[in-house]
Amino acid sequence: MVGVLRSILRRGFELIERPFDKLFGPSLNPVTQLGSLGFFFFWIVAVSGIYLFIFFDTGIERAYSSVENLTHYHWFHAGVMRSLHRYASDLMVVMLVTHLLREFAYDHYRGARWFSWFTGLPIIWLLYASGITGYWLVWDRLAQYVAVVSSELLDWLPIFGEPIARNFVSTGTLTSRFFTLMVFIHVAVPLILLFIMWVHIIRISRPKVNPPRMLAGLSLAALIAVSLWKPALSQGHVDLAKVPAEIGLDWFYLPLYPLTTIWGNGAVWAFIGAFSLMIGLMPWLPPLRRAKPAEVDLEHCNGCARCAEDCPYEAIRMVRRTDGMPFPTQAQVSTSLCVSCGICVGSCPSSTPFRRTEELKTGIDLPDFRLKELRERTVAVAGELKGPGRVLVLACEHGCAGSRESGVVKLPCAAMAPPSLIDYILSKKLADGVVVAGCAESYGYNRLGVQWTEDRFAARRDPYLRARVPRERVKTIWASSLETNRFETELAAFTAKMALLPAEPARPLESPPPSGAQPTPASAEEASPA
Ligand code: HEM
Ligand code: SF4
Ligand code: SF4
Repeated sequence: MVGVLRSILRRGFELIERPFDKLFGPSLNPVTQLGSLGFFFFWIVAVSGIYLFIFFDTGIERAYSSVENLTHYHWFHAGVMRSLHRYASDLMVVMLVTHLLREFAYDHYRGARWFSWFTGLPIIWLLYASGITGYWLVWDRLAQYVAVVSSELLDWLPIFGEPIARNFVSTGTLTSRFFTLMVFIHVAVPLILLFIMWVHIIRISRPKVNPPRMLAGLSLAALIAVSLWKPALSQGHVDLAKVPAEIGLDWFYLPLYPLTTIWGNGAVWAFIGAFSLMIGLMPWLPPLRRAKPAEVDLEHCNGCARCAEDCPYEAIRMVRRTDGMPFPTQAQVSTSLCVSCGICVGSCPSSTPFRRTEELKTGIDLPDFRLKELRERTVAVAGELKGPGRVLVLACEHGCAGSRESGVVKLPCAAMAPPSLIDYILSKKLADGVVVAGCAESYGYNRLGVQWTEDRFAARRDPYLRARVPRERVKTIWASSLETNRFETELAAFTAKMALLPAEPARPLESPPPSGAQPTPASAEEASPA
């Protein structure tokens, strides 16, 4: 049931994302950069909020007139800031809901990745608390509605001795202190929100917290245009003697407020509680069957730290050496953070399939799918290829080639394949060409996998694909599991090209030295022509 919902949503996202990618390029696609846009909108809200505070009178008597003043007399700067403050806050809700649905659709919330999801829950509460208290401060008729309904909602909970709704029965009973408390909450809650947003990404390596400049610039320009076209306005001064009628609601922040009259306060609380419980428990409903985390083999680890650099989930730390080898550090895996993507296996200089040993070993390996097994499977699958144009596919199981049965070696992430494996396949003439296939560039089941693979092939990142590997025989195809047609078309074209290429002249088989790193303790003597 949950799986069906996930794939329907995923298809929906793909339908929006892929054409967007094609039209504007991945860097201008807002759907794939929702987290960073969330941070960007937060900063707009924070800066515009600080600006508004210069003009805002925090006393209950003059709050309304100060807002009116800044909206009408200082419209060209403070008025625009007010609109920016409101519309960027609304966009934060849009971003939050879409980001939540997208992370769910792409199954980024279970197993070791539960943490980012779980910390999203307080973000939802805090964002709503910030927005709702913001509407309070304008002290117009919408504020009156928000104040009355919020107080009645809070009074339903057995927390406060005195009912707070009594504050709003008439002007006489309303204390200025209560209003000041709201001002304080409206400033304090976003600060806590920012802290939780930081906690939210703490387990992610190189999180994208800034959108590309072009996307940020266009978003800001659009916000300014809307602010000038439809400025945010107040809805008339509070009149506690009258029940406000005909008020315009902000449906982004206040969708539950009308429900208090239809369902009642208890039912609204029950809805909030059930929703929060569902979000909180989702990473375990059903739990992800977790593959065993990566393991370090000190005999083959020289402490080069490449695995720690490449791990997308901050699961590897470099710690002081414990085995007496002449290296200052060694890699250490945090089993609770590791998602078993294998990216570290692809980055370790010891991961060279050329090594001729009884049992191929490397510095860091996946117990469920070891490098040795990867080499064995590669050789076996290559043995079944039929010419002309024998193409071997090294594919991420989550991407376009995940459902393919023949000619493919499936990996948890395309970046698990060390570049030397491609050298090995072509040097040993196991295939005429190699395709490395993975998730679409802007989606990536495992973060950074596509980027690291591209960087290694372009010699921008160690371990890189050696210059001697004929580039015309290597191809990458980044496409999602819903783009199998495109994958098959590109694969067929590449296979046809391989069939026409003249055979490569024989070249010496040697073990590629681990570029940029010292030799591993056990590798030097093991490395010999295969
Ligand atoms: C203001 C609200 C939020 C902001 C600004 C925000 C921001 C971010 C950012 C910047 C990332 C890292 C993206 C990357 O570089 O790959 C991220 C990841 C994530 N977020 Fe949020 N987020 C917000 C709300 C939420 C909510 C409400 C949920 C769900 C309940 C959520 C779930 C996740 C998950 C599961 C990931 C991790 C994805 C992975 O492991 O690849 N976020 N978020
Ligand atoms: S398999 Fe390696 S790269 Fe992937 S999460 Fe675990 S330690 Fe990090
Ligand atoms: S040798 Fe391998 S396991 Fe050791 S630190 Fe370098 S990449 Fe990590």
